[in-house]
Amino acid sequence: VKVYVPRDATALALGADAVARAIVETAQRRGLDIELVRNGSRGMFWLEPLVEVQSGNAGARVAYGPVGVHDVAGLFEAGAFDASPSAQDGRRAHALHRGAIEESAWFARQQRLCFARVGITDPLSVEDYVAHGGYRGLRNALVTSGAEIVATVTESGLRGRGGAAFPTGIKWKTVLDAPSGIGNRESGIGRAAKYVVCNADEGDSGTFSDRMLMEGDPLCLIEGMTIAGVAVGATQGYIYLRSEYPHAHRALQAAIANAYAAGWLGADVGGSGRRFDLEVRLGAGAYICGEETSLLDSLEGKRGQVRFKPPLPAIKGLFGRPTVINNVISFASVPTILDRGAAFYRDFGVGRSRGTLPIQLAGNLRRTGLVERAFGLTLRELLEDYGGGSWSGRPIRAVQVGGPLGAYLPESRFDTALDYEAFAAVGAMLGHGGIVAFDDTVDMLEQARYAMEFCAAESCGKCTPCRIGSTRGVEVIDRIRAGIERDGNLVVLNDLCETMRYGSLCALGGLTPDPVVSALRHFPEDFEPRVGAA
Ligand code: NAI
Ligand code: SF4
Repeated sequence: VKVYVPRDATALALGADAVARAIVETAQRRGLDIELVRNGSRGMFWLEPLVEVQSGNAGARVAYGPVGVHDVAGLFEAGAFDASPSAQDGRRAHALHRGAIEESAWFARQQRLCFARVGITDPLSVEDYVAHGGYRGLRNALVTSGAEIVATVTESGLRGRGGAAFPTGIKWKTVLDAPSGIGNRESGIGRAAKYVVCNADEGDSGTFSDRMLMEGDPLCLIEGMTIAGVAVGATQGYIYLRSEYPHAHRALQAAIANAYAAGWLGADVGGSGRRFDLEVRLGAGAYICGEETSLLDSLEGKRGQVRFKPPLPAIKGLFGRPTVINNVISFASVPTILDRGAAFYRDFGVGRSRGTLPIQLAGNLRRTGLVERAFGLTLRELLEDYGGGSWSGRPIRAVQVGGPLGAYLPESRFDTALDYEAFAAVGAMLGHGGIVAFDDTVDMLEQARYAMEFCAAESCGKCTPCRIGSTRGVEVIDRIRAGIERDGNLVVLNDLCETMRYGSLCALGGLTPDPVVSALRHFPEDFEPRVGAA
């Protein structure tokens, strides 16, 4: 019997290690032969730790969750870890019995391309990865020219999943076409000609798809980066990972070592004679190092500060060399495209938003977790069908999409389709696909204040509108809250937001006005003077 207990950080936070230990010890005491697999999470956080049991290698998996250490003895009693058919009735009768996850409505309606293996395979096993379709994309890439690989990625319609939605194929083409000598005066001898860098500094609150992918299927990211290297002619890749992700770090290190051992990284990738090396580098906790040029500075060993663009990193990036820099999910989407073709991927989605998006449901919802669906479903479907409504049972008043710099949307906008352009049309952004729900107890003035406070804390300080404006923003909102010259201060706040939006060098200062202005526009009643305020 194979027993799957996730090693995903969410499951660990809910006690998965202790559950795994209790299962192994109890099985030993009872003389039962079980094989423990530490998988990724299926993304159903309300059921974590979710334990799945499989008889043999091909049998259906039966799930139990949420399992606590105190449930383990009862599960053994009920025959949960017993392969015999006679124990079936006992298993089904157990209160934590969830049946086959694939058949649950929540899971069955998803379209998992990027997350196809997460929660299913052993994340560190190259053998398991290959048995579940892994490395088919890279195999195809190795017998295709760089220009053709780039054309396939362009035709697939894949856009950067980090938030800005820039067409991935066009970015790669810029790197492919860039002469590798550009800007190498300061870079010294012996540097690689071009680089591939993964932005794994997932700093947005309410987002966790990068983390889940790196913990649950790190080889998919490794394969995607290797394909990028083969496509543009880069021989060295770096994963810039935030230090707050220690479990992802361990998973990546182990998966990279296993990929080297299996010949999928190093001097002779997949027996092709092509080289690609990959290393993980840890950040030190600054949000701004998720901005691509700060990230490159940090990777070079400097203090992470935003660089002026142009030159784009695609022309002059890491150590002055042409660099493909993409988010985790962008890279992890590429193996499917190279395996199944551009048309297959393009068939998912709507308008100019093609393919699927791993959406992260967080905040005040009954069922939080990860949903991967083609673009086009509405926010309401996500909040109600998947999220199950608010956790508190109260009406959902606002949702913030796209991280702490995303706009707040009221109920009247819940029918907006998940599509980059449809979101832009209502003054919002999809960003990295994080959705945080708030019920009717939320104070939108406080949320607006928090946006300014966040910007003040995380600003790199390079430009004035962001460095000074965010601190002034907190003060102005405090005066509005206190009812001091409210109308005049609202004008000042709007002016300040405009200055930050158009005068800031990067997205941190430039997007901070979005949550503030959307809170003001959709929830003006929260900006009325407070009864009893000074
Ligand atoms: P951007 O629009 O300036 O650039 C997007 C990407 O396209 C960059 O990699 C840029 O170098 C590249 N690019 C642009 N023109 C190009 C060309 N002609 N050829 C090749 N490459 C080209 O956006 P930026 O400032 O990089 O990102 C802002 C976004 O980041 C925001 O929309 C926000 O959603 C997102 N974000 C994500 C976070 C996360 O945790 N995932 C955190 C904070 C912000
Ligand atoms: Fe730095 Fe803020 Fe300017 Fe961005 S907008 S460069 S974070 S000061």
